Amino acid sequence: MDAALSLAPSIRAHTIPGYNDAIVRRFTVATVLWALFGFSAGVMVAAQLAYPQLNLGAYVTFGRLRPVHTSGVVFAFGGNALIATSLYVVQRTCQIGLWGGPRLANFLFWGYQAFLVIALSGYVLGITQSREYAEPEWYADLWLAVVWLAYLAIFVGTLMRRREPHIYVANWFFLAFIITVAVLHLVNNLAMPVSLVGAKSYSAFSGVQDAMVQWWYGHNIVGFFLTAGFIGIMYYFVPKQAERPIYSYRLSIVHFWALIFLYIWAGPHHLHYTSLPDWTQTLGMAFSIMLWMPSWGGMINGIMTLSGAWGKLRTDPILRFLVVAVAFYGMATFEGPLMALKSVNSLSHYTDWTVGHVHSGALGWVAFICFGALYYMVPRLWRRPLWSHRLVEWHFWIASIAIVLYITAMWVAGIAQGLMWRAYDAFGFLQYSFADSVAMLHPYYVIRLIGGVLYLTGGVLMAVNFAMTLRQPLRQPDPARAPQAAPTPAS
Ligand code: HEM
Ligand code: HEM
Repeated sequence: MDAALSLAPSIRAHTIPGYNDAIVRRFTVATVLWALFGFSAGVMVAAQLAYPQLNLGAYVTFGRLRPVHTSGVVFAFGGNALIATSLYVVQRTCQIGLWGGPRLANFLFWGYQAFLVIALSGYVLGITQSREYAEPEWYADLWLAVVWLAYLAIFVGTLMRRREPHIYVANWFFLAFIITVAVLHLVNNLAMPVSLVGAKSYSAFSGVQDAMVQWWYGHNIVGFFLTAGFIGIMYYFVPKQAERPIYSYRLSIVHFWALIFLYIWAGPHHLHYTSLPDWTQTLGMAFSIMLWMPSWGGMINGIMTLSGAWGKLRTDPILRFLVVAVAFYGMATFEGPLMALKSVNSLSHYTDWTVGHVHSGALGWVAFICFGALYYMVPRLWRRPLWSHRLVEWHFWIASIAIVLYITAMWVAGIAQGLMWRAYDAFGFLQYSFADSVAMLHPYYVIRLIGGVLYLTGGVLMAVNFAMTLRQPLRQPDPARAPQAAPTPAS
């Protein structure tokens, strides 16, 4: 029963005409280009932290380029990947083309890219409302709200017209991501514009409420943008690439409801030992610990989907990307609840340990699951065989080494930082000055930079592989292997 539910709709869907795959192709190209952009910005800010003399003038200081990196990877690379995969998956699992027609889909594509360009160029010019992951000013926020509603309408409209009675679990995660991001965006960006020319506004919230709302938003951007949407990707692409049903469809439903209910409460763990009421901090901590269960339930569900097909990991680098991503999801969601404990957070907060945690989730989970999904989709969307599987192998190993360099350097640096800040001598004086702790970081920042360059190199290999794939001759559909090789009808 579980097996039938999880595989049947998506396999049969390859034979239904009328999909809008042109839009999926556009979002796919945008994903790859923004990946290169976002990773390059990451390498640049990593280089600036290791060698501060690289702050070459006002427009390219660390302070301005850091949000270019974070928005570049989270919203530009991750966002385009989520929209591409969700539109690919919803059509196949509902066996129907996108609601709203090509015009609305094109509006979504160009509207989203316009938002990214407006936001990122604003940062370089110094325009920001200084809220992490919500830096764009009010005019960009309003535009994004319109574009996001178009996305919601397309997705819900498609679900409502579906030919398949069942709504496949990946779509539940995608829908939760789209709705929650809309709510987070609207509430956190409530602000009073005070100047058109200077693009300035003041938040509707003040003091500790402002911090609370910002980290309710910030944490749930992690929970719904960087997690729920990518879990949607996991539930479709892992079974497809492994050619196995999901390990337990029932567990995936429990995973969904538990994750959605618990994530939304955990934001205060970003504000431990602040003026936020103590009970709120404890609440955030308690819900973070509870999050362990659905996170690991989902991780186990993803990994166990390979039962009976473990051997494929040896020969299939695309599957390896997907499965290693799920393993990193398990690691990041093991570490997160640990860091949410107040006693652990008193050591980790403000240190590079947090940055290490972020990138084990970002590089290992978010980006790896995207790479796997992209390698799966590109040959099918363009109906051409992938140019080189060997290059995928290279990408996999280079990126894996890069992650190890990045996150181990940050863990060591972060824990050393935390310990140096709390070390006292026999007379009760601080043993190290702050400058001592900064000087200690240099070698670790250089190692992180090397990791970043390697990660970017892997991304370039992927882009080259795709560019060459597009030059391959068109593949004729093979009826005997419809789910693998058949063209999507509208492409
Ligand atoms: C080439 C790969 C990458 C490099 C070299 C890199 C480097 C960096 C650096 C140097 C920072 C600033 C750390 C600080 O302020 O101390 C940073 C922050 C951040 N990066 Fe990356 N990054 C990379 C890829 C990614 C990816 C793929 C994602 C997400 C999908 C990501 C998400 C973030 C986030 C969310 C932050 C803010 C972390 C915080 O505030 O604690 N990065 N990155
Ligand atoms: C059960 C799951 C998770 C929990 C409970 C959790 C918990 C935490 C905690 C306690 C912090 C440090 C807060 C601080 O001291 O300022 C943090 C930071 C962060 N985590 Fe997680 N984490 C989880 C999973 C993830 C995953 C899967 C990602 C994906 C990329 C992620 C991305 C981030 C980011 C971007 C930050 C930095 C926020 C900032 O300060 O800018 N987390 N998380």
